[in-house]
Amino acid sequence: MMHPLDPPTLDELQRAVKVVGTSGRIGERPHVCLAALEEPPKEMVLAWRPEEPAPPRRLKVVTVDRASSLTYESVVNLDDDTIETCQSLTGIHAPVLLDEFNDCQNLPRDPAVAAALARRGVTNPDTVYVEPWPAAWFEGLPYDQSHRRLARAVFYVFEEKGDQPWSRPVHGLVAVVDRSTGEVVELIDDAPVPVPPVSTRIDPDSLGPLRTDVKPLEIIQREGPSFTLEGNELRWQRWSMRISMHPMEGLVFHQISYDDPVAGRVRPILYRAAMAEMVVPYGDPQGQHFWRHVFDQGEVGMGRAANPLKLGCDCLGEIVYLDAPIIGMDGQPGILEHAVCIHEEDNNVLWRHRDTLRNVTESRRDRRLVVSFWATLGNYDYGFFWYFHQDGNIELEVKLSGIVLTGATEPGAPASPYGTKVTDDMEAPHHQHFFNIRLDLDIDGPVNRIEEVDASPEPPGPDNPWGNAFRPRVTVLEKESEAKRRADPTASRCWRIVNPEVLNAMGRPVAYQLITGPAPVLFAQPDSAVGRRAEFAYNHVHVTAYDPTETRASGEYPTQHPGGAGLPAFQAADRNLVDTDVVVWVTCGVTHVARPEDYPVMPVERTGFMLRAHGFFDANPALDVPPLSVVNGEDSCCH
Ligand code: CO
Repeated sequence: MMHPLDPPTLDELQRAVKVVGTSGRIGERPHVCLAALEEPPKEMVLAWRPEEPAPPRRLKVVTVDRASSLTYESVVNLDDDTIETCQSLTGIHAPVLLDEFNDCQNLPRDPAVAAALARRGVTNPDTVYVEPWPAAWFEGLPYDQSHRRLARAVFYVFEEKGDQPWSRPVHGLVAVVDRSTGEVVELIDDAPVPVPPVSTRIDPDSLGPLRTDVKPLEIIQREGPSFTLEGNELRWQRWSMRISMHPMEGLVFHQISYDDPVAGRVRPILYRAAMAEMVVPYGDPQGQHFWRHVFDQGEVGMGRAANPLKLGCDCLGEIVYLDAPIIGMDGQPGILEHAVCIHEEDNNVLWRHRDTLRNVTESRRDRRLVVSFWATLGNYDYGFFWYFHQDGNIELEVKLSGIVLTGATEPGAPASPYGTKVTDDMEAPHHQHFFNIRLDLDIDGPVNRIEEVDASPEPPGPDNPWGNAFRPRVTVLEKESEAKRRADPTASRCWRIVNPEVLNAMGRPVAYQLITGPAPVLFAQPDSAVGRRAEFAYNHVHVTAYDPTETRASGEYPTQHPGGAGLPAFQAADRNLVDTDVVVWVTCGVTHVARPEDYPVMPVERTGFMLRAHGFFDANPALDVPPLSVVNGEDSCCH
């Protein structure tokens, strides 16, 4: 039995690709980029019951005609394998294709590129690895005004498999390339610097003696994990949700609900949660780096770049994996095995108190459900870890690892103001990583409002005779023009998603609280290329009125887009946000001034946010978590 939100099966992907591919409507040299479910309307999904027939299954298939560089969007009805709509889109570009990447590997044989490489002592084209980056978009550069599919390609020396190309950058050489024809539109060749001579490897044999005092740590759940995964429906500890992999958004959650025994009903919290964009702007003005600000989601795709996960490497314990039918970077439908890892973790203490009159401690262990995946985008690896807690809280932790981007310097030269020396002959430019997550919150139903809450001192006066008084102050975000907000840790600022129609036992409207982590905002100037294209990164919280077609913070096709799409366009409507269906967009991220310790591979860095029940329950909802002595059937000191 299919659920209306089930992601496409392999058979559905294959059928949709066949229908579109044989239609003769998508150009001379079509290449499949992606296909994803066209989700049925929310009200239809909420009204649907399992005994009823599922709504029509529709997939959107995005293709690129490599002859014309045009992008086509087709909607296929899988009930009768017909094309409902098919249109070529002008002024936008689809995400990157593996064929384009492969074609770019021929660049070292281009005479001008070969000559530039030779000036740097690189004469064997077989030892050059080419990395074609999405080209961004610059108003002042003439080729960016054209409708070509462009890449800005950079070069590395790479002699054998296992070598990390990022350890041997060819500096001062960038080829602007037409992805469709392979033509070098412009070759930027400045500041030739010697190519660093040493290839770095990060396998155990290459890293030298390993420490010998790490004893095995095994996680055993004799009776198996406490969750169930049936199809795409995951249930654990009163939580239920649907999980799937989207080619662009990566891991998508639908219908996250909590079965509340006190209220006696299943209570909706989130209708849909997924990343809506990410961007990595570099802060170094030199020619090698200034243009780098890839939108890894919209220009590449988090599901397309997702990894097959391995026990003991990516997740530890009793693991259940979700396999994901997906169209890979090569345009072929297939199954990405072990795309999502699901497991439980002990997370130390959930709640505790020691009764010092009796010398007795009541303590409960915190168990959390972890739903995660990893994606690799060029030199970086990103892990997305969603945590569900027994006290009703939901958390996202983004983990950043991989290899920092490098440029070569003269050996012994001092670092520039815009980078950190990570070896004697390499510098890692400063950059930022921003992640925007779209949260279609439905706290006890779709009618919600958003309050911004700042704690602040009471002014001196009759209300504050002792000078100690402070209190939270609430501002309702009434319209979209008011709903571009920054965190303020000095005011303990948070936001509440409130349902005014449902009251808790204290007579207050039920709510969840959004707590953002310490996160920077975009440093690039607002009229810079990245400033226009990634406006979402200037604020931590945006709120929009619900519209199912508004899913990406920088628009659906950021590739070579001049900017203004996504959140700025959505919020320009200045819709009402009070007591209606609202969507919250959270930006988190880090400013990465690289450290020597980040090289040759970076220890995990973290960012994220939390959704915390705030008057959603009438009391601590985790009072019914049993002590370990009950779970294990053994004596225990903790109650
Ligand atoms: Co970084």
